[in-house]
Amino acid sequence: MQIDIITVHPELLESPFRHSILKRAKDKGLAEVRLINLRDYAFSKHRNTDDYAFGGGAGMVMMVEPIALCIEDLKAQRAYDEVIYMSPDGMMLDQPLANRLSLKGNLIILCGHYKGVDERVREHLVTMEVSIGDYVLSGGELAAAVLSDAIIRLIPGVLNDETSALSDSFQDNLIAPPVYTRPAEFRGWKVPDVLLSGHEENIRQWRFEQALQRTRERRPGLLGRED
Ligand code: ADE
Repeated sequence: MQIDIITVHPELLESPFRHSILKRAKDKGLAEVRLINLRDYAFSKHRNTDDYAFGGGAGMVMMVEPIALCIEDLKAQRAYDEVIYMSPDGMMLDQPLANRLSLKGNLIILCGHYKGVDERVREHLVTMEVSIGDYVLSGGELAAAVLSDAIIRLIPGVLNDETSALSDSFQDNLIAPPVYTRPAEFRGWKVPDVLLSGHEENIRQWRFEQALQRTRERRPGLLGRED
């Protein structure tokens, strides 16, 4: 999978993709993230990527031309399954959406800024709009990093132990159960006996009950959800 992120601030995204799981995905040849600087496609007199809003009002709007030229240039090099615009009014990112996107080939992610992008970008160039939550960030870059991380870690072979993605919270519409490691007792705080028992079936049952209880307490809306 190739994810091409179009941004006016590539420097904001350099670090997250140079480390940990995302770096491992690249080293294994499973997923690569490229940062595309939108300014390289700004050919107007002042090489701007944004301009004042028609009709007035505060805030600059990202121009359609550089974005169109950029997306067309990328599409001339390879095929993409989706052109995703990161926006607070997009489809809410959740685990089922991350699962679906992890099955795709190549993706373009467009990061917005200021008051957003010229609406014609959304009408004619973007195929999908994704939000990472009901709050407004100062740009789409951090949201694009969140989305890319959620997708890439699900690609088979990216995680060492593939079952660890399967046992994540939300994968079965349950919050993950608590986990512990050594020591078995710290300041009198004890690890539940069942986890030390070596009895696989009891441990499996305990984990399931804990997951169910946590989900009831923290995310009751997940229970009974079909996706
Ligand atoms: N850009 C600004 N805020 C955002 C959000 N909450 N989700 C996705 N993109 C955004």
